[in-house]
Amino acid sequence: MPNQLRIALAGSGGVVRRYRGTYRHLPGVQVVATIDVNEQEARQAAAELGAGRASTDFADALRDDVDAVVISTPNHLHAEHAVAAFDAGKHVLLQKPMARTAAECDTILAAQRRSGRQLGVYMNLLDHPLFRDMRRLVSDDPNLIGQVMRPQPVFAGGKMRGFRVYPGANRQAFARIGLRAGDLVTAINGTPLDDKDRAQEIFSTLNSSTDARVTVTRNGRQQELVLNIAQIAGEAEQLGNGGDGMMPPDQSPAEPPSGEQ
Ligand SMILES: NC(=O)c1ccc[n+]([C@@H]2O[C@H](COP(=O)([O-])OP(=O)(O)OC[C@H]3O[C@@H](n4cnc5c(N)ncnc54)[C@H](O)[C@@H]3O)[C@@H](O)[C@H]2O)c1
Repeated sequence: MPNQLRIALAGSGGVVRRYRGTYRHLPGVQVVATIDVNEQEARQAAAELGAGRASTDFADALRDDVDAVVISTPNHLHAEHAVAAFDAGKHVLLQKPMARTAAECDTILAAQRRSGRQLGVYMNLLDHPLFRDMRRLVSDDPNLIGQVMRPQPVFAGGKMRGFRVYPGANRQAFARIGLRAGDLVTAINGTPLDDKDRAQEIFSTLNSSTDARVTVTRNGRQQELVLNIAQIAGEAEQLGNGGDGMMPPDQSPAEPPSGEQ
């Protein structure tokens, strides 16, 4: 590999607009091509990054002067683009999610192994302490928050906004509590969940509190709900939560709105 890693940005709009500054100042990296079906995006990125060429054709990312392809195209194109890049002998940095299905991920991994090149997946918050705390919270007390809801920390513009909640294993309890899949919980008992170091601690108070006041943003509108997770989870348990009350934990009902990370 040459001293400078020569990269092509495939998909130069959307989230990449936020990262352009980073690529401009990254030592050892030279952006040689920017590619986007939206020509204006490709041209603007090329101008900002001093890239030699801007193109609307993904094949331009596979030319000989490119060592690595950063793929930030929409999710349904990740597998196609990553496999093409590996087959052309490029390293790949892929935006999250890696692909739409486990089968697509396997196809990418097979191409990566064939090529012997490196694959990176842009999971920028994977090691964030908050995610580790959330995992622990859910596994420590499976009868309460973990049963009722799956909270996902939401950041926008680099700031914590709260937790987007989805049904946990006990879907019935989630519905009874008055929450809807995708609600954004922004405050509990009037305390905003905007401090990433304290948010998980505040959120976990739902486990033990009776009648906690929760501020929720739903369809862009703010609402106040009163939740008692312990009581509702207990009642739903007694009623039985089999059949359609259960949902495997890996089924996300909704994509977060764009702009969130
Ligand atoms: N790491 C993060 O924090 C983060 C945040 C947001 C989005 N993402 C991921 O980044 C990827 C892009 O998301 P986005 O929000 O920027 O979407 P977007 O739709 O805003 O941008 C995608 C860009 O790809 C271009 N494009 C579409 N088809 C193309 C093709 N065939 N060849 C070249 N360019 C093509 C579009 O014109 C557009 O400019 C997604 O996989 C998304 O999940 C990651």
